[in-house]
Amino acid sequence: MLLVTGVSGALGSLVAERLAGREDVVLGTRAGRPGTRRLDFDAPETLPGAFAGVETLLLISAGYGEDDVVVARHGAAISAAEAAGVRHVVYTSLSGDGDHLTYALAHRWTERRLRRSTTLDWTILRNGLYAEFLTWIAAPDAEHRITGPLGEGRLAAVARADLADIAVSVATDPAAHRNRVYELVGERPLGGADLAAALGAAYVPGTLAEARAAIAASGAMPFQVPMLASTYSAIAHGFLDGTGVARNDLRALLGGREPLDALDVFVKAVREG
Ligand SMILES: NC(=O)c1ccc[n+]([C@@H]2O[C@H](COP(=O)([O-])OP(=O)(O)OC[C@H]3O[C@@H](n4cnc5c(N)ncnc54)[C@H](OP(=O)(O)O)[C@@H]3O)[C@@H](O)[C@H]2O)c1
Repeated sequence: MLLVTGVSGALGSLVAERLAGREDVVLGTRAGRPGTRRLDFDAPETLPGAFAGVETLLLISAGYGEDDVVVARHGAAISAAEAAGVRHVVYTSLSGDGDHLTYALAHRWTERRLRRSTTLDWTILRNGLYAEFLTWIAAPDAEHRITGPLGEGRLAAVARADLADIAVSVATDPAAHRNRVYELVGERPLGGADLAAALGAAYVPGTLAEARAAIAASGAMPFQVPMLASTYSAIAHGFLDGTGVARNDLRALLGGREPLDALDVFVKAVREG
């Protein structure tokens, strides 16, 4: 039996849609909706029941927070999986070129925790930043200007739907992907000028200092300020344009089909608000 965690989230819900109707799949979420198992990594007492009878766990990385919070969540999930006799954990991580992002640490800790397990097989899906995430950092303002400090940098963004398809394909055939690390980034990196042109907007990149001040003033939580600032900086300085991963496994894991166009996904996401 396969258990998918986090099915109320954007990625988890796409995965759940694709697995609907399968009797060998159970869905887990903090909300514990009808037809799901309640599981909350912040409440480890929910995990033994949720993981009972599970052979494969698709562990969707658990949200945002300070490193100690996210590490504790993922640590609790993996320890509970070991205790429950789970055989294989598929984990949604962060692309290998993302090490300059402040949120990389919790992903790399989780990868290391899985590698050190003496009972679990694992597969690590190193997801690139979502095309949809570009709406957080490069949506046009009221004057129809994109002012995010992307500089001349570009992001190898990838559609969430492609990552959901891959997560399903790997988690439903885990033995074929035993102890493998896959890099999953977009094939066509996008810069601020590309995003603006697609929307008929202007690209007027600000500075990192301006962005940091605006994020702090927006009511963001303290950890979110360096999180977003490090994202801008990594893109602007060329670390996330797709050239930093040794091999992009996206197309191969999509079974040869074309990846979705990240620019189309971004434009649609902006228009849908
Ligand atoms: N590659 C990217 O661009 C990117 C961007 C943003 C985030 N991420 C990471 O990828 C994950 C999935 O992305 P998303 O777009 O689906 O994010 P999302 O819509 O914000 O969903 C957050 C996810 O975290 C789970 N979660 C939070 N706290 C949890 C806890 N205590 N116990 C168990 N699960 C918990 C939620 O599960 P429930 O169903 O229980 O709510 C949900 O699946 C995120 O959580 C984050 O780690 C990646």
